[in-house]
Amino acid sequence: MCGIVGYIGNNDTKEVLLNGLEKLEYRGYDSAGIATLNDNGVNLFKVKGRIAALRERVDDTNHATMGIGHTRWATHGAPSEENAHPHQSASGRFTLVHNGVIENFNEIKAEYLSDVTLASETDTEIIVQLIEVLNEQYNDVLEAFRESVALLKGSYAIALIDRNDQETIYVAKNKSPLLVGLGDNFNVVASDSMATLKETDQYLEINDKEIVIVKRDNVKIQDLNGVAITREPFTAEIDATDIEKGTYPHFMLKEIDEQPFVMRNIIQEYQDEQDEIKLDPSVRQAMLDSDRVYIIAAGTSYHAGLVGKQFIEKLANVPVEVHIASEFSYNMPLLSEKPLFVFISQSGETADSRSVLVKIKELGHPALTITNVPGSTLSREANYTLHLHAGPEIAVASTKAYTAQIAVLAILAVDTAKAKGIDLDFDPLQELGIVASAMEALTDQKETFEQMARDYFATSRNAFFIGRGMDYFVVQEAALKLKEISYIQAEGFAGGELKHGTIALIEEGTPVVAISTQENVNYSIRGNVQEVEARGANSCVVSLEGLNQENDSFILPHVHELLTPLVSVVPMQLLAYYAALHRECDVDKPRNLAKSVTVE
Ligand code: G6P
Repeated sequence: MCGIVGYIGNNDTKEVLLNGLEKLEYRGYDSAGIATLNDNGVNLFKVKGRIAALRERVDDTNHATMGIGHTRWATHGAPSEENAHPHQSASGRFTLVHNGVIENFNEIKAEYLSDVTLASETDTEIIVQLIEVLNEQYNDVLEAFRESVALLKGSYAIALIDRNDQETIYVAKNKSPLLVGLGDNFNVVASDSMATLKETDQYLEINDKEIVIVKRDNVKIQDLNGVAITREPFTAEIDATDIEKGTYPHFMLKEIDEQPFVMRNIIQEYQDEQDEIKLDPSVRQAMLDSDRVYIIAAGTSYHAGLVGKQFIEKLANVPVEVHIASEFSYNMPLLSEKPLFVFISQSGETADSRSVLVKIKELGHPALTITNVPGSTLSREANYTLHLHAGPEIAVASTKAYTAQIAVLAILAVDTAKAKGIDLDFDPLQELGIVASAMEALTDQKETFEQMARDYFATSRNAFFIGRGMDYFVVQEAALKLKEISYIQAEGFAGGELKHGTIALIEEGTPVVAISTQENVNYSIRGNVQEVEARGANSCVVSLEGLNQENDSFILPHVHELLTPLVSVVPMQLLAYYAALHRECDVDKPRNLAKSVTVE
């Protein structure tokens, strides 16, 4: 959600900025812009829409060696050229990009900017106007920048350039992610390292409420009082080819196909030389010390948490609650005496989850983050981290991160069970190997799912997914995938719950997809299928080998009953993908959605 790129060096800045913004497209945005600075002044280009349109707009003749760029996901003010970043101060001297939400923008406007006419509806513009007003007072840009940042309440990652200074980019952050990348006679600024991996793999973490002065050949970090801070850079461990589509038409399809490799990767990363589970002993201890686990997550990660609860309760005998982060944040339930908070987040940046993390840290409770991005905010701020090892996920609709989260949760549950002396007849590492092969068998049958998507979703306005037990959690994810990318109104229900209301919506031809992978409810879910068929539904049953019946639409290869979500979700992902494709939707970048939701 929103992305920032900045560059100061000797190369053609607009290319670095545009390439960087393209790499940040996956985060979600609705407008974009860049500003470069050279002897002619600031060259500002903004568009509503895609980076491709911005590329066309950018004047190719104006060479510059520094600048800032931005992708905007509208919060304050509609998506438009006026509201797109960069924003400028009244005199045009200062130009700024911002991610986040300024909570006290009305107060700042009233107190400092009563004489300024604002050109946009954004909260961002007040920052750049404030800097100009304070600079008139102090006649010192750094001081004005620092004072302005100190006045801001809310979340922000900002980069500022000054028309009178071709040697400096001013940077600051609070809650929103931002990194400074280090190069040889150049430096970059980026919301995440994927944007500028082509330039450098050396990055400096920036902590909240720090100011960074980025020059061509050096970078200085200070606190808000101007005290210098030293920090070692880290190496971004992302393979540049991981963030390319290669021969795939879409990242989503590539990422669905990568799931068997991710499973094998996880086995390798979590296995010791004796083929036993290898897990950070402090995570194990935290699990042993807690009397209840609180899983906090959003979207697809929340759905993975629902499956994880089953593992931890059934295998390790520890009670688990799963909460939607944005709900928990404002409505905290009664907590147990020794809670352990487990944050599940692909990006590690979800603002709603972070808001919970801040609150529970204030209460002194321990936190574990399970994430695909170990250097992310949720990872850095929690006591412990478990890495998903899924490789970068670019498509907005999450696929391989979901299955990786479930696999890691299974390993965590079994590790806890073993540490508690519980004897289990379940080796997750071995079973995940079987899952990997089953996933491969599924991704090899794409034509089948393409045809099914045509049969069931080509023209439908809505769709229902039903399941019981483990399958109930997967159908919720199946419905989310379909609605996210194909815009078909889709819901996932507990099979038995349909007849308590939703069955009223079933009409002739309404698609209903049932998943049946659990022996104890196989009979009941099939009863539910008959109920909807009797009302004219166009039904489809996806069942596990061994539980299958005549006329089932698709039979899943057999895997351990606990791990069925890892295979039953694959056809659901592919059905959503092909449904979106048939409907000519933008699969990787669905409307209104963001990959990394960095505002609450
Ligand atoms: C956004 C994405 C979803 C994701 C959710 C949680 O809504 O579009 O795909 O599941 O955020 O993100 P996280 O990074 O915390 O898993």
